[in-house]
Amino acid sequence: MTKLGVGIIGCGNISTSYLKLAPLFKSLDVKAVADINMDTATARAAEFGVRADTVADLLAADDIDVIVNLTVPAVHFAVTKQIIEAGKHAYSEKPLVLTLEEGKELRDLAASKGLRIGSAPDTFLGGSHQLARAQIDAGKVGRIIGGTCHVMGHGMEAWHPNPDFFFKPGGGPVLDMGPYYITNLIQLIGPVKSVTALAKSTFATRTISNGDRNGEVLKVETPTDIQALLEFENGAVVTLGASWDVWSHRHDHMELYGENGSIFLPDPNFFGGDVEMSGENKDIVTVAPWDHPFSVANYEETRANYRCAGLADMATAIAEDRPHRCNIDVALHAVDVMTSILKAGEERRFVDMTTTCERPAALSPDEARALLA
Ligand SMILES: NC(=O)c1ccc[n+]([C@@H]2O[C@H](COP(=O)([O-])OP(=O)(O)OC[C@H]3O[C@@H](n4cnc5c(N)ncnc54)[C@H](O)[C@@H]3O)[C@@H](O)[C@H]2O)c1
Repeated sequence: MTKLGVGIIGCGNISTSYLKLAPLFKSLDVKAVADINMDTATARAAEFGVRADTVADLLAADDIDVIVNLTVPAVHFAVTKQIIEAGKHAYSEKPLVLTLEEGKELRDLAASKGLRIGSAPDTFLGGSHQLARAQIDAGKVGRIIGGTCHVMGHGMEAWHPNPDFFFKPGGGPVLDMGPYYITNLIQLIGPVKSVTALAKSTFATRTISNGDRNGEVLKVETPTDIQALLEFENGAVVTLGASWDVWSHRHDHMELYGENGSIFLPDPNFFGGDVEMSGENKDIVTVAPWDHPFSVANYEETRANYRCAGLADMATAIAEDRPHRCNIDVALHAVDVMTSILKAGEERRFVDMTTTCERPAALSPDEARALLA
């Protein structure tokens, strides 16, 4: 198949994963990178043997079909809009945008130009989450009626060299980590109907404890401790605990309860891990792993990491003229859920969704294999 010429805007922390992993996929050919800081782009380009462009040159480049937006959340909307206005397909890191209005504007703009917008996360395409999906779709635990999700820890200032954006509006655990959980819930259960939440920040400041800025104090400008309830269109009710104020806990990442059993999923921030399940006999057993290529450990020796799978699926979907899985309707619905959780927390009430979406198509082992080089 003809590969799409890929450009990247934003050469920070996560860009190395994209540049390392894109060659795994047969539809992707990363040609150039850009950053608001030209030195950053030049250094990243040299590391991976690609071209360093200015942002303007990348937007105008004839050999670029799709641009990946790896900038910070506050500028996701503006940068993705620039990409679409330049006549190129766009694929954004999460969260797609910070408001529904921004997302709708992007969706309408892309539709008017016949261009695609895709958005991370694509971890729900991982072998483990697809294995869980296959169990649910086969009716192994019956209709999902509820569940719990927990993404809790003590923040990002210990490992990220520039953690500022995590503590500003657009950051926080719901918008930053929520996309992995909410997108996986949408693929497993379907769209959300209504949410409520309580939200607060325990700590007014955070002290960077790594890298060149070690010791620098950041102001916390967004809630960092949120307990939410999500009611799905199918009637399921799921608790989501999302916090950067907690030192340790013993909750599972994600467990879902069905009418006839329960299913326990690994961390939706990753592609692999064990899936466990029980039936009415209550014996919890590991579901036998399947031969799905996106479960195979390929990263730091033990981890399955197929970041770029969503981008590769979008590139293939363009060639095959079919919908892509990490599509804007799913991403926009996830933004609706996340911004509504924050609104519910702020206003101490229930908030109904104003968007909905189809569950993205399942990705079978053969379909995943077909994306690989
Ligand atoms: N770091 C991770 O492990 C990780 C994992 C998954 C997703 N993400 C997501 O990826 C995105 C980027 O995260 P990161 O950790 O790489 O951030 P980062 O701060 O390390 O890098 C962001 C880069 O974008 C550049 N940039 C900012 N504004 C720009 C603009 N207007 N035009 C061009 N370049 C601009 C910055 O100069 C910087 O080099 C975020 O949305 C984040 O949620 C990060």
